[in-house]
Parts: sequence; C-alpha cells; structure tokens
Amino acid sequence: MSEQTLLEVKNLEVSYQAGGKKVCAVNGVNLSLKKGETLGLVGETGAGKTTIAKAILRILPQPQGSVNAGEVWVDGEDLLKMPEGKMRKIRGKKISMIFQDPMTSLNPIRSVGDQISEAIRLHEKLPKSEVQKWAVDMLEQVGIPGARYSDYPHQFSGGMKQRVVIAMALACHPELLLADEPTTALDVTIQAQVLDMMNHLKEEYGTSVVMITHDLGVIAEMCQTVAVIYAGEVIEYGTARDIFNHPTHPYTIGLFGSLIVLDEDVERLSPIPGLMPDPTDLPKGCKFAPRCPTCEERCQRAAPEAVEIGEGHLVKCFRAKDGE
Ligand SMILES: Nc1ncnc2c1ncn2[C@@H]1O[C@H](COP(=O)(O)OP(=O)(O)O)[C@@H](O)[C@H]1O
Ligand SMILES: [Mg+2]
Repeated sequence: MSEQTLLEVKNLEVSYQAGGKKVCAVNGVNLSLKKGETLGLVGETGAGKTTIAKAILRILPQPQGSVNAGEVWVDGEDLLKMPEGKMRKIRGKKISMIFQDPMTSLNPIRSVGDQISEAIRLHEKLPKSEVQKWAVDMLEQVGIPGARYSDYPHQFSGGMKQRVVIAMALACHPELLLADEPTTALDVTIQAQVLDMMNHLKEEYGTSVVMITHDLGVIAEMCQTVAVIYAGEVIEYGTARDIFNHPTHPYTIGLFGSLIVLDEDVERLSPIPGLMPDPTDLPKGCKFAPRCPTCEERCQRAAPEAVEIGEGHLVKCFRAKDGE
C-alpha cells in the first residue's frame, strides 16, 4: 500500500442468508482509493455496491450479512480485524457514510441543527455552545442559513434535506466518505448543485470519496477512478478517462454506449438486454456470459481473471486478454 493510498479493499466476499439460500452479493472485490480522490462504483441495482460500502464500515445487517473473506485496509490497519469498540470511534469520524435513501437518515421529530450537533458530540468533547456553533457553521457550509438550526426536516425541501445529511456526514471532517447514491432522489438541477457542493467540501477538507451511483453523468462529474461492478465483481477498473474513452468489457461498453442516448437513469431503461444473474445461483463461468453479445464457449466454462490492458486498467474478459 503506497503512502498516497487511503483505502485498499482486497478480495472482499460478502453473502447474505435469505430464505434458506445463500445470496452471493460480493464475490472477490479489489479496490484502491488514493488520498483526496473520488472512486466511483457504478453498476445496476443489485450489483452489490451498497453491500461493499456496508462491509467497509462493518454495518451489514445482522445476522443475515457476513463477510466471508477479504481485507479492508485504511491507513495501515485492516478494519475487518479491528475490535468493535475501536471501529465505533472510526464510524462517523474517520469514515462516514451518506445512505442511499437520505430522507430516512433524518429523525422527523428532532431539529436539523440538533441532529448535526449530535453527530459532532459523538466524537468531540466540547462545551454545548461550541458544538452548536460548529453545527451552525456546517449548515452554512452546505448553503443553509444558520437561522434554520431549529427547524424540523419537514420544513425543508428534498434538496435541502440532502444538504443536511451531507452536513452531518462531513461534520467531523472524515478522511473517507462513502456516498451511496447521494443525489438519486433529487431532481436534475438540484442534483447538480449538491454535486458541486460536495466537490467543493471535498476540496476544502481533502476528503477521499467512494461515490456509488448508477448515473454515468455523476461519474463524469466527480470521479478520477471508476470500478464497474457486475454481479458482485469488479469487471472493469481504471481511470475515468480509461472507462469513458476505452471501455473494454462488453458490459462497460453496453453501459457507456447508452450514455449517448440518455444522460440519466441507465438502470431503469436497461440498455443491455437481459437481467443480472440470480445471486443465489451464479453461473460457473463469466457472470456476464448469459447477456454478453460476444460470449464464446470458454466464457461459460471458466471465469476470466482480471487482466491489465493498460497501466492500472483492469478488465475481466477473455477477449481483453487476447488483445481484442
Ligand atoms: N439484507 C439483505 N438480505 C438478503 N439479500 C440482500 C440484503 N441486502 C442486499 N441483498 C442482496 O444482495 C445483492 C446486492 O445488493 P446491494 O448491495 O444492495 O446492491 P446495489 O447497491 O448495487 O443495488 C442483491 O442481490 C440484493 O438483493
Ligand atoms: Mg444500493
């Protein structure tokens, strides 16, 4: 792990027990994030993106969810081996998360200011007045007047609630922010404002971000590095430039091909015919084979390993290995 690397995920495997079956949600994921950079995780619903983030933060639903293998290195420590007490000090402080459905992260019967103060108080021992001042400052940093400290969530628009959630997540100046579809619930103009604001705050605090999205526009706007996730695997990984200019895995080509036709909600329009495989019964070979327009016999027999086709540009496809 180089000095600039903040997060390194190695061979992560996560499953859920559901209805007597094993759901193989994350199947050997490797990721690496440099300090101050944004790594995008992109892929359809059900690909395993949220599960990866929850496994990093060790908040998988219990008892269904379990990490079966892997390592999550942050600043020279494997989070998966850390005692829970130490992990609790890290959550919300060194690493924080914006959840997929931000509206449910707010308590409807407490003022937004109190909720930001609470996030600060959990980790900082300061007099009440100091904490309150800090919370007001956070509100203003996300573009909400400090005078609205005592207002309740229902008094805010969707975009403003999302700003409050971001203020809570960034209150303790985390080194790593896991942002799970932070703008999906917002309309397009508000989305652009919130992304601008996140980029600005990220610069200010030097925060590294894992940005989960199924929106390629968000990737283009925010991310230096991209991991394309399919059926719990990283099927292509590289710089945003590699992925946009030289998409190589047939799935990435399919996903990014759709960018020309539309600029949002790739998943709903499903540009690639077919569905992701059943995670309780994954294909033996390449998991994309059943949907792949260039599938060959070998693809059904064995799963391709990642091959490096350019510096740091990895692709899990036999044809990439052949240099096609
Ligand atoms: N609590 C759970 N119990 C059982 N299966 C789950 C649970 N949470 C997620 N899954 C399954 O794990 C897979 C990955 O889900 P998820 O990580 O939410 O994907 P994404 O965030 O990419 O949409 C899906 O097949 C999903 O149905
Ligand atoms: Mg998700």
